[in-house]
Amino acid sequence: MNNLWIRPATEDDAETITELTDAAFGTPEEAQIITQLAADGDSLASLVAHNDREILGHIQFFKVWVDGEDIACGLGPVSARPDVQKRGIGAGLIRFGLTLMEGSGRSHCFLLGHKEYYPRFGFSADLAAQFSGPWSGPNFMAKALTETGPSSGELTYPAAFGA
Ligand SMILES: CC(C)(COP(=O)(O)OP(=O)(O)OC[C@H]1O[C@@H](n2cnc3c(N)ncnc32)[C@H](O)[C@@H]1OP(=O)(O)O)[C@@H](O)C(=O)NCCC(=O)NCCS
Repeated sequence: MNNLWIRPATEDDAETITELTDAAFGTPEEAQIITQLAADGDSLASLVAHNDREILGHIQFFKVWVDGEDIACGLGPVSARPDVQKRGIGAGLIRFGLTLMEGSGRSHCFLLGHKEYYPRFGFSADLAAQFSGPWSGPNFMAKALTETGPSSGELTYPAAFGA
């Protein structure tokens, strides 16, 4: 998509992020997670994608602990506004956000998501299966962001996930 910019979200964006996340998922739970992550200090990055006029997408990254150490991150929720999906907004947010997390030294990124979509960004269910935590199965995926991170461990998620 032309003229797409990605920047950190500000407090003024909160309402728009909630509206767009509710519209993309069709339920309020995902936006509530975003709000609670910020309130609890567990957000690592909240990014919006916008064109010249308006916000079209959002992605959330948050802390994940491995064996009690705050070294990894989680991705989600991620949303593109329903009327502009499948135009690269989600992919742009995911690639930009992963670069940011890699640059900040996070060892891995974990997510629960569509198993057809995330492997193109380097996510693997086999890698995630080496870690124990609140989720498992083919939709639980991981990507290593450094070569020096742990190859297994127990994951702790933020309270926002109720896990
Ligand atoms: C998933 C989402 C963030 C992707 O963003 P997007 O800007 O629409 O997607 P992109 O343009 O980057 O990528 C398009 C690709 O994503 C795929 N895709 C989109 N939604 C998908 C889904 N639910 N399951 C599998 N693949 C999906 C498309 O089929 C397309 O694949 P192709 O490139 O092989 O044709 C967006 O569709 C969305 O907000 N969906 C609703 C909320 C949601 O499900 N969030 C993610 C939870 S894991």
